[in-house]
Amino acid sequence: MKIAVIGSTNIDVVSYIDKVPAGGETRAAQNFHTAHGGKGANQAVAAAKLGADVLMVSAVGNDLFGKGALENYRNNKIDTSRVSVVEGTATGVATIIVEASGQNRILLYKGANDLLTPELLAQAKEDLKTCGLIVLQLEIPLETVYAAIDFANENKIPVLLNPAPAVKNLSIDMACKCDFFVPNETELSILTDMPVGSREEIKMAARYLLSKGLKNVIVTMGSQGALWISSEREEFVPARKVQAVDSTGAGDSFIGCFVEHYTKTGDVLESMKRASLYATLSVTKKGTQDSYASVEEFERFCKN
Ligand code: RIB
Repeated sequence: MKIAVIGSTNIDVVSYIDKVPAGGETRAAQNFHTAHGGKGANQAVAAAKLGADVLMVSAVGNDLFGKGALENYRNNKIDTSRVSVVEGTATGVATIIVEASGQNRILLYKGANDLLTPELLAQAKEDLKTCGLIVLQLEIPLETVYAAIDFANENKIPVLLNPAPAVKNLSIDMACKCDFFVPNETELSILTDMPVGSREEIKMAARYLLSKGLKNVIVTMGSQGALWISSEREEFVPARKVQAVDSTGAGDSFIGCFVEHYTKTGDVLESMKRASLYATLSVTKKGTQDSYASVEEFERFCKN
């Protein structure tokens, strides 16, 4: 079953530092690299690395970064026929700072991602009809996300929405039209205006979304694990303990792995367990897509 990812493509410019500089301060970074990123691209690559057949719907600029991003998709055997090259704008760029604890901070210039309009999306409709799941995030215009959800509903294609980065004015009615809603705890707090300091508070906030009509809420909670709440079930999947070096893109790897396994099996809990392990493995390595394991490496990690 083909998976469509409708979302962002970025180039990540990453500095690794011991301490974030204060305003007006200059500090030396200990390490630096540029890499392929973007929440949409990361999720697509994670799913493809695990063997999923992925259609990417995205927009890049007609620049070196855009060309590199297209090549990266092809290297990962992702269908790029619906990745548009937009003239007169730059490919999205994320400036990322990773601290010694593995914690990251991201400054995003959306560039071409902002030009992935509903009109551009409409050109991909026939291809999207061949897909068994549509995956969305919020690094593209909100109106395109809403158009994709309506299209998916009209064509009875299940949708997973990762509300990242969080947008306070996200329409709850649109979120209710999605089969899976997958925020991290920070996004959950911003969306619900509720505290998420403990697992109990996270549950309360997720239950609040269910009370509004959402179907399946899966909260990714970093080193703690993940929580799934639906009207019939509440399941918590703890994360394996590891030494984290870089958490950037861990949530994306969770979603990529989740959709790969879910489209194959239809088993939500098992897909969450695998996704949690895949994300855990990713934080033990530097980088986003570079830290996503191959099938072989992942199977070895699962067995240990
Ligand atoms: O989720 C991580 C991603 O967020 C990075 O790859 C960066 O591009 C930002 O979009």
